[in-house]
Amino acid sequence: MNSWPKYWEDPIYSDEFWLARARVFCSNFEKQFDLRKDQRLLDFGGGCGFITKILSPKCLEAVLLESSLKSIDRARIVNESNENVRYIHLHQKDDLATKLQGYKFDYVIMNSVAQYLPLDLFILYLENLKGSLRENGRILITDLVIKDSNLLKDLKDIAVFYFEQGNLKGFLEFFFTEIIKLKDRLSLPMFKHSSEDIARRLKGSYKISWIKNLTLNINRHAMLLTPC
Ligand SMILES: C[S@@+](CC[C@H](N)C(=O)[O-])C[C@H]1O[C@@H](n2cnc3c(N)ncnc32)[C@H](O)[C@@H]1O
Repeated sequence: MNSWPKYWEDPIYSDEFWLARARVFCSNFEKQFDLRKDQRLLDFGGGCGFITKILSPKCLEAVLLESSLKSIDRARIVNESNENVRYIHLHQKDDLATKLQGYKFDYVIMNSVAQYLPLDLFILYLENLKGSLRENGRILITDLVIKDSNLLKDLKDIAVFYFEQGNLKGFLEFFFTEIIKLKDRLSLPMFKHSSEDIARRLKGSYKISWIKNLTLNINRHAMLLTPC
C-alpha cells in the first residue's frame, strides 16, 4: 500500500457503506443547491460512483473522473442503469484541460478528494477547471480537513454517524476494516493541507463561500468556488 488511491480502491468496504455516506452528502447538496435536468455535473475523484449514482438521474449528464481504474470499473457497475454517465480516467501526470476538452459543467463536485492530493497539483486542477465551467458554473469542494485536524477525531465522527443511523453493519464494517487496515493507514502520508491552506492559495483566483452541513464528517469544511 503506497498511495491513498490504492487505499480507497480496495473493495473491502461494501457498496452499502459508501452509499450511506453518499446519501447524506446528496440529500444535503440538494437542500442547498438546485441541480437541474438541463445541467452537467463533474464528479471529480468520484471513486466507486455513489454520488454519481444518486445525482445523475437529476441532471443531463454526469461525468465521473477518477485516477483509479479499479474504482472506475466498480463505478461502471454501480451506474450501469444510468445511461447519462461518462467516465474519464486521469493519471496524475495527465493534463486535466486536455482530458476535459469539449466538456462544460454547471457543477463540479470534489467530495473528500482534495486532502489526498499534493496541494500544488490540486491548485493546478482548479486553475484548469476554470476553462471547463459554464457561465455561473461552480465548484464544490467538500469534506476538507480543518487546521490541526486529528485522525482519531475524524475516524470517530464516521463511527458515530453509522452508530446514530442505527446502521450496525456499517458501524462494524468501519470498525473492523479500519483495524485491519490500520498499518496501511499509518504508513500513508497524513493530510498535508487544510481548508485554510487552500483558501490562502486561491485568493484572487476564485471567490470562496463557506458551506456548512454537507457531509457526515461534521468537523470538516466545505467551500464553494466561483471564478473571480
Ligand atoms: C475518499 S475517496 C472519495 C470518493 C468519492 N468522491 C466519494 O465521496 O465517495 C477519494 C477518491 O479520490 C480519488 N483520487 C485521488 N487522487 C486523484 C486524482 N489525482 N485524480 C482523480 N481522482 C483522484 C481516489 O482514487 C478516490 O477514489
